[in-house]
Amino acid sequence: MIGLDRFALFSPMTIPTAPSAPAPDRYAVAGNPVAHSRSPAIHARFAEQTGQAVHYERLLCPLDAFVPTVQAFAAEGARGCNVTVPFKFEAFQLAARRTPRAELAQAANTLRFDADADGGWLADNTDGVGLVRDITVNAGVALAGARVLLLGAGGASAGVLGPLIEARPAEIVLANRTRDKAEAIVSRHLGWAAQHGVRLSARGLQDAGTGFDVFINGTAASLSGGGVPVGPEVLRPGALALDMMYGPAAAPFLAWARGHGAVPRDGLGMLVEQAAESFTLWRGVRPDTAPVLAALRAEVDAAPAR
Ligand code: ATR
Repeated sequence: MIGLDRFALFSPMTIPTAPSAPAPDRYAVAGNPVAHSRSPAIHARFAEQTGQAVHYERLLCPLDAFVPTVQAFAAEGARGCNVTVPFKFEAFQLAARRTPRAELAQAANTLRFDADADGGWLADNTDGVGLVRDITVNAGVALAGARVLLLGAGGASAGVLGPLIEARPAEIVLANRTRDKAEAIVSRHLGWAAQHGVRLSARGLQDAGTGFDVFINGTAASLSGGGVPVGPEVLRPGALALDMMYGPAAAPFLAWARGHGAVPRDGLGMLVEQAAESFTLWRGVRPDTAPVLAALRAEVDAAPAR
């Protein structure tokens, strides 16, 4: 018996081998276009920092095939994805379960491919909480009790209004070129605003109001070279003026804000913070955003103007 045991000990079948690392869990940013996306670099830094085995890629979806492309990605064993333009509304529809903030936005930027036994995929929208964290933590500006002007009534503004209300400003005005669209978004947030003691109203651009503490630009006006579509009277001296865009697209807004005595801020911090929320939802670990934002800011500032 002893001999057999010894034989077994040295049998090639039982030579202990170094455990091979499991394949990393796969995630992606799904959109069209996605080539420009900074999300892979942000999530790679989060993964390295937290020691999470994550591989994050770009998933270019044909405009008419978002759902099958994402379903195929999940079928390959991927665990979730971020969703960017123009698919945030489809992503919301696709999921079986939705967080309350995704319900308010009617759009999702994050999917977690949960097993069907748990009730199916979860849709979340982390844009708004990312924006709120960037304003209150990174910029150090209090939203509680403030007067806030949110400009635009597209997906960008709809995606952030719920969490902005949760931060309990005294008032939020949602102003848009097409007033009806602002009214539609406001009407589905009125109950949420009442619960949080926030005065919420929809306005056109001409009567947006004056002297706001925080001005958030969620319009695509700068992309069309249209400049800032409201006058500087919307700013109180020293107001925070934040454009959800970053890089060259945000430059005209930031120059306008600086020129009118406001504190300018682009959307880079929001980008990193919404990514951190998604990462936390997927992995249960919150990354430290400060060094990632600093590295990204250096990269964007060094990039040649397009
Ligand atoms: P997204 O989903 O990225 O928010 P969107 O749905 O196309 O994009 O919405 C763009 C927003 O920017 C809208 O609020 C749009 O105003 P309208 O609803 O009146 O179209 C606003 N916008 C775009 N160009 C603008 C401009 N030159 N001046 C004022 N608002 C503009």
